[in-house]
Amino acid sequence: MSTDQRSKDWYNQRAEEYTKHVRNPDDSIYHSLYEKPAMYKLLPNLKDKTVISLGCGSGEDCKYLKSQGAKRVVGIDSSEKLIEIAKNSYPQCDFYVMDMEKMDFDNLSFDFAYSSLAIHYIEDWHQVFQEVFRILKPGGYFLFSCNHPVYSALDVVEDDGDIKIRQLSRKNTKSTDAVEIIGDYMSHKPIIMPDGSDMAVTTWHKSIGEIAEEVADTDFLISNIVEPKPLSKMKDISPTNYETLIKIPNFIIFRLLKPQPPISQNS
Ligand SMILES: C[S@@+](CC[C@H](N)C(=O)[O-])C[C@H]1O[C@@H](n2cnc3c(N)ncnc32)[C@H](O)[C@@H]1O
Repeated sequence: MSTDQRSKDWYNQRAEEYTKHVRNPDDSIYHSLYEKPAMYKLLPNLKDKTVISLGCGSGEDCKYLKSQGAKRVVGIDSSEKLIEIAKNSYPQCDFYVMDMEKMDFDNLSFDFAYSSLAIHYIEDWHQVFQEVFRILKPGGYFLFSCNHPVYSALDVVEDDGDIKIRQLSRKNTKSTDAVEIIGDYMSHKPIIMPDGSDMAVTTWHKSIGEIAEEVADTDFLISNIVEPKPLSKMKDISPTNYETLIKIPNFIIFRLLKPQPPISQNS
């Protein structure tokens, strides 16, 4: 399933609020002190390169990628409102309303593809991997982040109007032999946040094995997998989040390589 309509509507309806959130580093600490530093550390040399960001939101990463010397940075997103904000904010980059499963770019258009916390809105990633493979030049990387399966194996319940998010665990009470299993790591499933949630969107949980299988079905090679740690600065700003993230990962980063074709023996 592609990104569902409810999630698309959520990003359109909350576009301004979302933009304000990501542009305030003290508010969006899971970006500023956790995911972005780890993603930026894995960037290749972008000098004079053509770059695409899939699910670019309000364009902050595009601005950063351009500041790293890229010749051209293109951002695409399925939210019309976020693309409008990005266009008005960062004229040094090009932005288009487009779905990452079907991109309107020629083969071999880009040197590097980037996607931050967007691919997990889609159930089956084969189409995205095939599209990115098609538009990338050989030797190019696709760097993307998504929910860590240890995090997304969670269990969401609405309880008396409150939302309870319970992490993967097994509770075993010795005296009664009672066992309670919370969450499910192995099954592929949607994580549907209730409407009252401040993130009422649907993302998809898949195990590391399933992600690796989807990559293996394409010609991409996995060049790196990173489970980021928060910057130590988070300890002062939000000790609870820091303590959580050094024990339970929230995001994971994959770097895929489109290999160079083998050199023909006859040439
Ligand atoms: C969590 S936001 C991340 C935005 C941005 N990458 C950032 O780090 O601030 C996820 C973004 O993915 C976009 N998105 C979701 N499904 C998409 C799809 N199929 N094609 C393109 N964009 C998509 C959403 O509209 C949203 O802007």
